[in-house]
Amino acid sequence: MQIDVFTLFPEWFDWFRAQRHVANALAAGSTLDCLSYRDQTPLTGGQVDDTPFGGGAGMVLRVDVVDAALAARYGADPAARRAERRIVALTPGGRLLDEALVSELAAEPALTLLCGRYEGFDERIVEHLATDAVSIGRYVLAGGELAAMVVCDAVLRKLPGALGHADSAIEESFSEALGGAPEYPHYTRPASYRGWDVPEILLSGHHERIREWRRERSEERGRPGSGG
Ligand code: ADE
Repeated sequence: MQIDVFTLFPEWFDWFRAQRHVANALAAGSTLDCLSYRDQTPLTGGQVDDTPFGGGAGMVLRVDVVDAALAARYGADPAARRAERRIVALTPGGRLLDEALVSELAAEPALTLLCGRYEGFDERIVEHLATDAVSIGRYVLAGGELAAMVVCDAVLRKLPGALGHADSAIEESFSEALGGAPEYPHYTRPASYRGWDVPEILLSGHHERIREWRRERSEERGRPGSGG
C-alpha cells in the first residue's frame, strides 16, 4: 500500500510513522509519504488559502494550490489521476468512516489523502480533484491531519504483518467473522480482582462453549441501544 498525504504539516506524521504497527507496515513494504501544499503553491509567499466568496469567517484551501500539488506528484491531468488511485478529501461532511470503508480502502494498492485546514476545501477540490470525501465523525477538527492518521491507522493495521499476531485482525470488532458486530469482552489475569471475577466459562477449557459464549456476547453488544 502506497499512501500519500497532502498537508500543511507533514512533520506531524513523524510521530505517527514511528508507531509500532505503522512502522511494521512500512518495514513490510508499504509507504507513507507526506507532501506539503506549500512546496508546490503557484502563489507568492507560500500562500495556500483565501477568503470565501460570498463572505463569512475563516479561510478556504484553494483549488489551484491543491491541483498544483497533485500535478507535481502525479501529472497534470486530474481525470487520469482519479482513474488511477483513490484520492480522499478528509472533511467532516464526507462519508462516515466505518469498517466496511476501511476494508475497501485497505484493498487499494495506492491511496491519496488530502487534509483540509481553516474552514476547509474549496468545494471544487472535492468535486473535481478527489474521488471520495471521508469523515471520521460529525464534529469539526481544526484540520484533516488527525483524520488522515485515523484512516492510515485503521487501513495499515489491516495489512499482512502490521499486527504482531496474524489472527488479531480476523476476529475483531465489526469483522466478517463476527457478523459485523462489536467484539466480545476480553479478560486476562488475575482471574479475580477486588471481587470482580472473570466469567467462569472462560476458565473452563471448553473451547466450543467459550466460542458460543463469545458469539452471544458479541451479538448482544451489536444490538441497537446496547452501547457496546
Ligand atoms: N476535517 C475536519 N474535521 C474532520 C472530520 N470530522 N473528519 C474528517 N476530516 C475532518
